[in-house]
Amino acid sequence: MNVLGIETSCDETAAAVVSTTGDPARPWRIDSNIVASQAEIHREWGGVVPEIASRQHVRDICGVVERALGDAAKSWEDIDAIAVTQGPGLVGSLLVGISYAKAAAATLQKPVVAVHHLAGHIESVFLEHGNIPLPSLVLVVSGGHTSLYLVSEPGRYSLVGRTRDDAAGEAYDKVARLLGLGYPGGPVIDKMAKEGRDDAVDLPRPRFTHRDRNALPADLAARAAAGESLAEFSFSGLKTAVVRILQERGVPVSTGLAVPSDAGPLSRQDVADFCASFQRVVVESLVDRTFEAAARLGAKSVGIAGGVSANSRLRRDSAARGDAEGLPVFIPRLSLSTDNAAMIAAAGLRRLERGETSSMDFNGLASLDIGGAA
Ligand code: KG4
Ligand code: ZN
Repeated sequence: MNVLGIETSCDETAAAVVSTTGDPARPWRIDSNIVASQAEIHREWGGVVPEIASRQHVRDICGVVERALGDAAKSWEDIDAIAVTQGPGLVGSLLVGISYAKAAAATLQKPVVAVHHLAGHIESVFLEHGNIPLPSLVLVVSGGHTSLYLVSEPGRYSLVGRTRDDAAGEAYDKVARLLGLGYPGGPVIDKMAKEGRDDAVDLPRPRFTHRDRNALPADLAARAAAGESLAEFSFSGLKTAVVRILQERGVPVSTGLAVPSDAGPLSRQDVADFCASFQRVVVESLVDRTFEAAARLGAKSVGIAGGVSANSRLRRDSAARGDAEGLPVFIPRLSLSTDNAAMIAAAGLRRLERGETSSMDFNGLASLDIGGAA
């Protein structure tokens, strides 16, 4: 079976062809995976501008899909189903992909299957690594989300934790803007951090809300199964602390630094120290919370997906923690970590394998529960 995946939830126009292999250990193969990134267009605004994003999707979608078919050496007749992101995301952007997917499905007389964007991120782990040990605790960490899902059987995801304020990637982007490092912030902070000392700036460790502040509840599994999200992350306090420390050092925080140079209130080395210290706190909090929850839930593996999983320290520290705890850690390659359509095709295949397809009247939704795709 050949599935065309389409993803337009934010600022990447993406299409991919994923096919089934018949091999139970590695059931899916990526035949093509095309992403047209709008990052350059949004950079001058310091973040994604929704109206500009949806207009750019309209310009790019046809060419991106044609290229995905071409790279896969497939024609439209070879496509058995179309999977598309229904949400969460920017509604104007989602509608471009959804309209295209529905039109193609109607023309081809083939099924369309709506996919939750984070189900796509979770399935990127399985797309890359095949059938990993279950139950698996998967951290989805991106510009819009920082959530923990327990995958107890293929395609069944229960939310066990999430951020109660900013997503980790959002914190990276905000701090990068303050430091004059541009958008998106993650890659540049990651790079600058390599030149800095991670204990140079005293930043607070994020604290959590439940009664005992840091320990996870003993009955996490049962309460998570009942729909409670308990393993919380928090990153907005960290950003506030960065603002306060920058103010104390004479940085104009309303505009941010211009471009780091030794002529400004912070030297290039100071900025690198900020990056390293910030990155340490974010990564420690992600790794600690994920492994605590994995232990509490009896997970047999840990997966990490989403744009922030490209982070070099998160990759290194989670692998080391996994080794220390005897828990295998699975992270997709970078092109499957950031937004892409191969993961959407994979999540679509999961639903198709259960016999699920979507009727043609579903809408794009800015927020959507993971089990709620049409
Ligand atoms: O998954 P993604 O491509 O899009 C969303 O669904 O949000 O994630 C984008 C986020 C951005 O916030 C970006 O700054 C962050 O991923 N990111 C990183 C790195 N590369 C991308 N964060 C930390 N370190 C990186 N190397
Ligand atoms: Zn994403």
